[in-house]
Amino acid sequence: MLYERIIRPLLFILSPERAHNFTLGCLSFLRSIPLGRQMTRLFFSKKAPSLNREVFGIDFPNPIGLAGGLDKNGEHYNSLSDLGFAFVEIGSLTTEAQKGNPSPRLWRLPKDQALVNHMGINNKGIINAIEHIREDRPRCILVGNISKRTTAKTEGEIKADYIKAFSLIYDFVDMVVVNVSCPNVEGLTSLQDVSYLSSFMDPILDRRMIQEERKPVLVKISPDLENEQVDAIIEYCRRNGVDGLVAGNTTRKRENLSTPPQKLAEVGSGGLSGAPLYERSLSLVKYIHEKTGGSLPVIGCGGIMTPAQAMEMLDSGASLVEVYTGFIYHGPSFVKKILRAILKRQKEEAAALKGSPRRPERRIKRDPSPTVEETPSTDAGRLPEPVAPSIPAAPAQTPEEGNQN
Ligand SMILES: Cc1cc2nc3c(=O)[nH]c(=O)nc-3n(C[C@H](O)[C@H](O)[C@H](O)COP(=O)(O)O)c2cc1C
Repeated sequence: MLYERIIRPLLFILSPERAHNFTLGCLSFLRSIPLGRQMTRLFFSKKAPSLNREVFGIDFPNPIGLAGGLDKNGEHYNSLSDLGFAFVEIGSLTTEAQKGNPSPRLWRLPKDQALVNHMGINNKGIINAIEHIREDRPRCILVGNISKRTTAKTEGEIKADYIKAFSLIYDFVDMVVVNVSCPNVEGLTSLQDVSYLSSFMDPILDRRMIQEERKPVLVKISPDLENEQVDAIIEYCRRNGVDGLVAGNTTRKRENLSTPPQKLAEVGSGGLSGAPLYERSLSLVKYIHEKTGGSLPVIGCGGIMTPAQAMEMLDSGASLVEVYTGFIYHGPSFVKKILRAILKRQKEEAAALKGSPRRPERRIKRDPSPTVEETPSTDAGRLPEPVAPSIPAAPAQTPEEGNQN
């Protein structure tokens, strides 16, 4: 409330990029003052064992992450994780620093709860990020998002550049996302054609084989792909050991917007994010999940603006979700609101389970098989349906037990 009524209107007086830098500066400042970090965590983070989930062999304390592009340089991941994010995707990072497109390159469309960006992957380069990671040990799961540098144009240059980026970042992050879907870098989205994708993904995956530790490698795709293109990418990923997909990036489309056409014309091309993207991202996540029977994990991203949407995305097959624009519009308590909603639903489901008429029968059985809490759950923390005859008599723990806030 405080954010939406007071802080956001003040921030929105500044240009979007200025507001972005100012906010990140404030977060760093908060972290630098005595008790600043503890206070931030106390206000904004939420912990509970029932929020944990294991995906890609990694234990995530909750399913909510920060999408690529906000911590472009990998300098604020710890401050951002204090706001409750289980994982922070840094980047997109390129092998060399690059300025991106000329300003203005970021616009707000408040009528649509959206942003349009034409940033062009401005960042200080991977080496700068590595130096920072060495100095400030990550306290969250760190995901390195890599992209080709804008000046890599030929197939040979692009291939060499992605391999270099991958080799540089690999040891410093927990997971790597290969971004091939930014609409603001000329030719980048055409890298999603599998013939092109394989030209640099094959050597990246070979490179991973010779590493001591096998870390997950994901590909970030565009919501503008046709189903046949998604099918081809899924097929490639499954055959070649890509661990999952981030679905997805911003869209080039401008459908069903309330923003006046003259404002849209002024903004011009660029990637649209936020509320108008949600239905498309959701259907992309559903499509991938159904197509793969869940065997290729998806991080759902795009247009999540409410806790209900985050839960719906998880229920529809996303193993994890990421937010960006929702965080800009709803502020630092956005993650906590989502986590609270998940916990509330878990509580309700546990209560419903308790009241289930089948419970007395199960009491007599005393079966040693997993408890309700131990039974793996695949969606947004939903407890299993009360049909398994093996659920033992022990009363279900409240999901918030152990909540340290
Ligand atoms: C200003 C801005 C910059 C972004 N930069 C990147 C980037 O560098 N790399 C990337 O993979 N995605 C980038 N994205 C896309 C987001 O990671 C995300 O995929 C997209 O915004 C959809 O999610 P949302 O609707 O929750 O914002 C950027 C988005 C915005 C708004």
